Amino acid sequence: MVSSGIRNPPERTIKGVLMYPPKGQHWKYTQVKIDQMEKDGRIRILADRSYIDIMGNRVYGVPEFLQSEDVPVDNSWTDLKGYNFNSTYPTENPEELLERVVMSASNEGDLVMDFFAGSGSLAAVAEKLNRKWIVCDIGKLSLYTMQKRMLNIERSKSFENPKKNYKKTARSFQTVNTGHYDLEKIFKLEQEEYGKFVMNLFEVEPKNKTIGGIRINGERKDGYNVIIWEYWKFKDAAVDEEYLHDLHSYLGNKAGRRIYIIAPASYVGFISDYYEIDKVRYYFLKVPYQVIRELHKVQFKKFRQPQSKNNVNDLEDAVGFHFMRQPEVKSSISVNNKDVQVTIKKFLSDFAEDETGQDIENFESLSMVLVDKDFNGNEFDMDEYYFADDLLPKKKKKDDDEEVKSNLKEELKHSKEIKLPAIPKKECGKRMMLIYVDVYGNEFKEEFKVK
Ligand SMILES: C[S@@+](CC[C@H](N)C(=O)[O-])C[C@H]1O[C@@H](n2cnc3c(N)ncnc32)[C@H](O)[C@@H]1O
Repeated sequence: MVSSGIRNPPERTIKGVLMYPPKGQHWKYTQVKIDQMEKDGRIRILADRSYIDIMGNRVYGVPEFLQSEDVPVDNSWTDLKGYNFNSTYPTENPEELLERVVMSASNEGDLVMDFFAGSGSLAAVAEKLNRKWIVCDIGKLSLYTMQKRMLNIERSKSFENPKKNYKKTARSFQTVNTGHYDLEKIFKLEQEEYGKFVMNLFEVEPKNKTIGGIRINGERKDGYNVIIWEYWKFKDAAVDEEYLHDLHSYLGNKAGRRIYIIAPASYVGFISDYYEIDKVRYYFLKVPYQVIRELHKVQFKKFRQPQSKNNVNDLEDAVGFHFMRQPEVKSSISVNNKDVQVTIKKFLSDFAEDETGQDIENFESLSMVLVDKDFNGNEFDMDEYYFADDLLPKKKKKDDDEEVKSNLKEELKHSKEIKLPAIPKKECGKRMMLIYVDVYGNEFKEEFKVK
């Protein structure tokens, strides 16, 4: 650390190297003090930084003096690191920084919040410091990074002894997608109005027909049949395995290879977006909270999820996620002795057009693919994520961001198929869960068995 003005002698030996201070400045501490700080492990060299010293030479490696318990912290927190890279989220703040913020501004049991939470450092710190926490973020990568971080907090560093792990599991917490709550309000809608509305929402053409004794409410644009699950008739029931097997006993394959079921999101007992029985896939169209807004004719701006790590921090003037409209995904998995390979053949947003009215073509709207390599059947614990950009054959990037975006769109459009990097089989459990996210934040979740 330096202060302005010149002192004599100017040089100090820091970590065995004779160093002159930066131009116009002097080292803040005496040699005796520096030697002591070195012994206490309170000096580090920031290898990626440089400065011009008073002799006019460029010096690579800037010494940093860390403050200690007995030195009061001043306004300049240069004793703490900038970004961290533990969670692989691009803008992760170090826990030490947030520890200081939380300790200085709250007491145990208080509620702390971060509305731009990124990798969720605040949640992790609050949990360890016994505070309640709420963290929000508009990015899907952030959401699953935070969830992972809290699910695995016991393996992160303890504040009491940074050489040891925290070891405690997190207290129960809930991940809420703001598109999926406050169903009470939906329930207050009249049944007929609800039916009309959700059919509009998912672009279903109303039809009144019966197959195998089951009432079919409409058809999707791809011709497949749609059933509106009449939640008001089932008090304690849900769209679960029992319901689907019962339904299948009537329908068999008489109603096609694909049936869509519209139901309030919290009544659907599957994380996956479809469930397969005898080669018939039952897809779930989950009704989110935003339908209320839609009823009031509030126009949503479609918020765009990034397609490249470089754009993770783009701020958008968005109202929120558009309601869940699963993209259409066709993918397959192949497993050999060594690797697991996922190939995506089709990725189409449920929106036929983008904001400018142009057709959205195959792969064009892919934002990212998230992978849980050993899915436990309950929580998605993300192990890998790939932005669309990472999944294209490597190319030279232009400096201009806009240019990269438009090239990316073209390249995606012209891809015949997209392969995820091969995943070593030994890293996979019996089941894998993949979440495919489109640029509007809509997800398609798919579970694979790794045989
Ligand atoms: C610098 S990062 C946050 C770092 C984080 N506070 C930490 O301590 O590690 C900024 C975050 O804001 C999020 N963000 C951008 N626009 C947002 C919005 N309108 N609403 C909520 N989050 C947003 C981005 O997705 C990004 O994760």
